Amino acid sequence: MRSQPTTAAPWRRFETRADASEAVAERIAEVLRSTLAGQDHATLIASGGSTPAACYALLAQQALPWHRVTVLPSDERCVPADHADSNARMLREVLLQGPASAATLLPLDKDAVAKTPRPWSLALLGMGTDGHFASLFPDAENLAQGLRRDGDDLVLPIRTQASPHARVTLTWRALHACGTRLLLAFGADKAAVLEDPQGKPVATLLADPGLTVFWAP
Ligand code: 6PG
Repeated sequence: MRSQPTTAAPWRRFETRADASEAVAERIAEVLRSTLAGQDHATLIASGGSTPAACYALLAQQALPWHRVTVLPSDERCVPADHADSNARMLREVLLQGPASAATLLPLDKDAVAKTPRPWSLALLGMGTDGHFASLFPDAENLAQGLRRDGDDLVLPIRTQASPHARVTLTWRALHACGTRLLLAFGADKAAVLEDPQGKPVATLLADPGLTVFWAP
């Protein structure tokens, strides 16, 4: 068993990606149920990318008052909503199915962020092997602005060589305000970054003791 990485965020390690995806789906459902037991509405900040697809498919089948849930992408590619690279399209096709089809999916823009009641319930984030999370990429000119806990912005436009599309992302100030913060990552390459994140955007995320990392080989 490898020693605990030198970050504040606790890890949960799983034998398989299916186990990790199921654990995250159950944790998200638990947080949404708990939130909705005490208030009218819950907001889920949902990562894009390929990693969370199995988790979202499992989460979508959970029996929840989904009509009281708003889903907001953690970041988005600036493409039409039906474009193959759209995170909103992926969330619509994978998460807003079955019982979860009653949820409300909003596009990631300043209006949606302004009108979605906060604090948001939960953020599920992913990470690239370059150490980006959401669309806070290492080469983004406004990265420092995006990583500030006390910044002025909740949403920022991002340009990066790592993506053919301009992006928009929630900032760390917005993400850290979520009541529960989870990071789901698979594979040895991402484990290496998680264990030595220094100098990468994800170091900011991993310094958060309120974040839980779910990882599988
Ligand atoms: C996106 C995501 C991004 C993603 C990582 C990992 O829009 O691409 O929000 O932050 O989580 O790039 O992507 P994979 O899960 O495909 O490895």
